[in-house]
Amino acid sequence: MIQITSIADMHAARRSLTGSVGLVPTMGYLHAGHIALATRARAENDHVIATIFVNPTQFGPNEDLAAYPRDLPRDLALLAEAGCDIVFTPTPEAVYPPGFQTYVTVEEVALPLEGARRPGHFRGVATVVAKLFNLARPTRAYFGQKDAQQARVIQTMALDLNFDLEVVVCPTVREPDGLAMSSRNAYLTPEQRRAAPVLHRALTAAQQAWMDGTRDPAQLRQCMLDVLAAEPLAAVEYVSAANAQSLAELHEPAREGVLLSLAVRIGRTRLIDNLVL
Ligand code: PAF
Repeated sequence: MIQITSIADMHAARRSLTGSVGLVPTMGYLHAGHIALATRARAENDHVIATIFVNPTQFGPNEDLAAYPRDLPRDLALLAEAGCDIVFTPTPEAVYPPGFQTYVTVEEVALPLEGARRPGHFRGVATVVAKLFNLARPTRAYFGQKDAQQARVIQTMALDLNFDLEVVVCPTVREPDGLAMSSRNAYLTPEQRRAAPVLHRALTAAQQAWMDGTRDPAQLRQCMLDVLAAEPLAAVEYVSAANAQSLAELHEPAREGVLLSLAVRIGRTRLIDNLVL
């Protein structure tokens, strides 16, 4: 595996590749969810490019950019083991040089849920992912279902801007107790870690209600709220039952394609999770 840090070297490396390319964009501090993306990319492509870049433009002023966990030596070892050929680790100055002024804004699907609570977040995500698409020119790009809205924003951007690639959305990888893998889980104290699986319990309770015949989205939301209310460490930001394509909140019974999602603070750590019915 070779490590590349400059834009010019990344362009040159990409020009030297023939055959299909799988791209795995990450912000590092890798966990089993990232490795599942890299493993799938390895199985489906001739070459695999992973990126590690903590993208400043997708963090709000009061978010955890400076504190975001980092462990580059460990990440490089894990990506090499997963069979990546190239890892691109640019600096913020290389990605956003002085004079940078071009951003990508995806509209409707970026507005609700995370977009409503984290203004500018998806503008930062779409911009950096568009740049990575231009640099890596992948055949396929791999993202996790855990960030369901991010996946919809990137699919929409790829379609609207005619990127010639497939966006592959891979299942959420979970701890044995149901907690979705996330680099931010590292912030949790042992007590908070014990409380965190409540997100998954809330989702699966609503899924069970759905399987028992509940179709009213308000009842599905209430079902998640009831489970979360029983966990004293959980402060709910939102629970949602939305159309899985448009992400518009549902107010009438739906037959399928419902995205249940939620954002919950456990202490100072903000966790998200989702499940599609
Ligand atoms: O999901 C992430 O880790 C990031 O949002 C991404 C897609 C790498 C863009 O910075």
